[in-house]
This record gives sequence, C-alpha cells and structure tokens, in this order.
Amino acid sequence: MRATAIALLAALGAASAFVPSAPLSTGAVSTARKHHAVNMVAAEPAVTTAVKRNANFGKLSAGYLFPEIGRRRNAYLAANPDTRPIISLGIGDTTLPIPEHILSGLQKGASQLGNKETYSGYGAEQGQGALREKIANKLYNGLIKPDEVFVSDGAKCDIARLQMMFGAGVVSAVQDPSYPVYVDTSVMMGQTGLVDPATSQFDNIVYMPCNPTNDFFPDLSKLPRADVIYFCSPNNPTGAVATRAQLEALVAHAKKQGSIVVFDAAYAPFIRTPGVPKSIFEIEGARSCCIEVNSFSKYAGFTGVRLGWTVIPDDVKYADGTPVRQDFNRVMTTAFNGASNIVQAGGLACLDDAGLAEINNLMDYYLDNAVILKKGIESCGFKAYGGLDSPYVFVDLEGKSSWDMFSNILENAQVVTIPGAGFGPGGEGFLRLSAFAPKESCKEAVSRLQELFKA
Ligand SMILES: Cc1ncc(COP(=O)(O)O)c(C=O)c1O
Repeated sequence: MRATAIALLAALGAASAFVPSAPLSTGAVSTARKHHAVNMVAAEPAVTTAVKRNANFGKLSAGYLFPEIGRRRNAYLAANPDTRPIISLGIGDTTLPIPEHILSGLQKGASQLGNKETYSGYGAEQGQGALREKIANKLYNGLIKPDEVFVSDGAKCDIARLQMMFGAGVVSAVQDPSYPVYVDTSVMMGQTGLVDPATSQFDNIVYMPCNPTNDFFPDLSKLPRADVIYFCSPNNPTGAVATRAQLEALVAHAKKQGSIVVFDAAYAPFIRTPGVPKSIFEIEGARSCCIEVNSFSKYAGFTGVRLGWTVIPDDVKYADGTPVRQDFNRVMTTAFNGASNIVQAGGLACLDDAGLAEINNLMDYYLDNAVILKKGIESCGFKAYGGLDSPYVFVDLEGKSSWDMFSNILENAQVVTIPGAGFGPGGEGFLRLSAFAPKESCKEAVSRLQELFKA
C-alpha cells in the first residue's frame, strides 16, 4: 500500500526527494491533488536572507504582553499538570455568549451571502453607509457626521493604522501605565529611541504619570509637548474614568500645544455615573483636535468577531491645513478592505434598541463582577482602584514587584492576573484584575485569594 502511494506521488509530480515516514493512503493523495494542495519538499538547512531587520523591532521586548502571560501560564501548567483549574482574571477577553438579537444580526449577515439577490462582495473600505449613520446617530447623538466614521476590524488595528498615518516623525504621549499598543506601535514606526534601562522608558515618548497621587490624571502643565496624545477612559489598566472637567483640561491642553488627542473609548458603555462623558466629542472644542477609536469588542462580546470604528472629524487638520480624515481615508482604502459584511450586519443589530439593551445587560454582568473582585481584594488587605464604570480593578501592591506577585498568585492560588509593569513603568507596584471572567470564577478567585493572603 505504502509503495503504491509513493509511486503515485511521484507520478503526480510531487517532490520525489521527499519520502513520507507515515503511511499514506492513495485516497489521501488524490484528495490532496483535487484540493490544490502544495507539493511537499525536503527540509532545507537553516539559512538567513540578505534582508536587514527593521531595527525598531529590536528595540521592543521580545513578546507582546498578553502572549507572554499565556506563555507563563502554560509553563506553570506543564510543570504542574495536576493542579486545580486555573482561573483567568488576566487578558480582558469577554466570556459571555453573544445575546440573541445581536446574534440574529450576525446570522442574517451570513444568510445574505447564500442568496443571489442579497449576496455582496467587497464593500466600501470605510464601512457600510447604514452602519456609519447608525453609529453617528445612536452612539454619538449626532455630535459627529456619518462620513466622519471609519468602520474597521477593531480598535487595536485602527491604532496601528493611525500610527502608519502619523509616521515616524511625531512625538507620542501616553498615560503611564497604559494599554501597551500605543507605545509598541510608536516604537515599531520608528518614533522612539531605545528604552532607558534605568527608567524602563523609551526615549522620545512622553510618559504622563497616572497614579493614586494625582487621581490617575496627569499634571498637564508639567508635560513636554507631544504631537499625538493617546488617552484612554475608562482606562485600561487602571480602571480610572476621566471626569468632564479633566477631559475639558485635556482638550484645552491639546489645543494650546497644537496636539492631536487619540481618545480610546473602547470601554465607554461601562460608564454608569451620570455626567461622566462617554465620548471625547461631548467636550467643546474636541472636534478640531480629537480622534476617537472605539470597538464593539467589549460592548457586545465581539472580541473574536472583530468590529470597531474610528471617528475623525473634518475639522482636525495638520499644520499645512490638510484634513487628517483625508489621509486616514487614504490609509483605509489602501491598507484595509472593509470590515466583514457578516460582522457589519451584527454591528447594525447591536445598535437597534434591542441590541443596545442587550449590551447594557452584558455591562451590568461584568460591572457586578468588578465589584466582587474589588471588595474581595480589599478584604485581603489591599487598596484597590477602578472597578466602577470600568471592568478593571487596579490593586496597589505597596511597592512590591508586580511580576513577583503575578507568580505568587499563579503558583499559590492558580489565578492569572496581569502585572502592572506590563503596562509601562508607572504600572510597577500594581496588579490588574479583569472582571470579564464568569461570575462563578470571580467568586472562586476571591476565595482563593482570601485563603492565600490570610494564611
Ligand atoms: C484600551 C483598549 N483599546 C483597544 C483594545 C482593542 O480593541 P479591539 O478588540 O477592538 O481591537 C483594547 C483591548 O483590550 C483595549 O484595552
């Protein structure tokens, strides 16, 4: 049988030098041919190309934060295969299933592709008109225009595309600590120098300290000028939510310095406190200096579905008068081909009244978890921040190393957290807990932590 298979491989033109070690059935070979499988080739000795590595990648630490957490978790599991199940309060990934009405939108989007009359192929790179309109009207109350909305495959990807647009010549400012994508993409673009081992800060990035001493809002008067200011509220990782007065100060600062604010509102629907802005465009003057990135990921459990958007008002202009929107449109039409049509149908369903009500229910569930985690960690003797209007609880370790505490909790409570140092030097001495786990897991994690810290 094996000899027949090899003879057949040769006859079909497969690489004759490669002799498979596992027996092949003739059926497998003919199926592979039918499906245009690539031909197998013999393994080559390792060689390098003559291509010079982009030096900016050498400036970054080896891995992005969240895969590194997963690697350490897996290493612990491999060394302790009989351990009790690990609970993840780590990466901010949603766990509740997509609710009925929103799911029906996704199903409709998929079904339309199976029908000659409703089939669609490539769509507008900026997103479907109906979705852009619904975002502008339902989420921004008409504060922005539909054609100022760019629908995309998520906020993370949009941040990277904004960086592509800004290029290497700008200086970026970030809250410290902050979502690592702002700094890492600035480094990849070549905006920075090397990291200073003494401060763990990249040269040519403006770090805006955000910690309990300043109520997690930077003293803007003390900061050097930056071209682009990344600002996230509700904040990942601190859980801090900027007040209207703070956002007014931020917009005034940007206008005075001639900067552009990239406002990350990925956690906006967690805001429940009356009067706290959910969008930077609620602030007067923001239309001339602010961009907002946003996403259905956390709103509707779309972390795997992938749908986000970026708003760039017509009034945001570069020093030479060019509208920023014009250049972002160029990026989107060149380096993006539109969000999936199935997924955009899901986005339309999110913004129906029934979908918005479902989003509210999801937020309630995670907000309730955040309270459980916050009270739980406080009962262990720690001071904690966030967890109100936000799915993240930021635990003050009072000077202890955050990676050491991460390991202590993983090894002794089998709970995954995120060390604050992963979000920038200002995060050292803190630990982030994510409320996106199932409620039972949050409760179990609290009882394990109480056991660990009361012992
Ligand atoms: C602050 C912030 N912005 C953006 C994102 C990414 O959103 P998306 O899933 O839309 O790429 C995350 C994800 O955790 C986040 O925390």
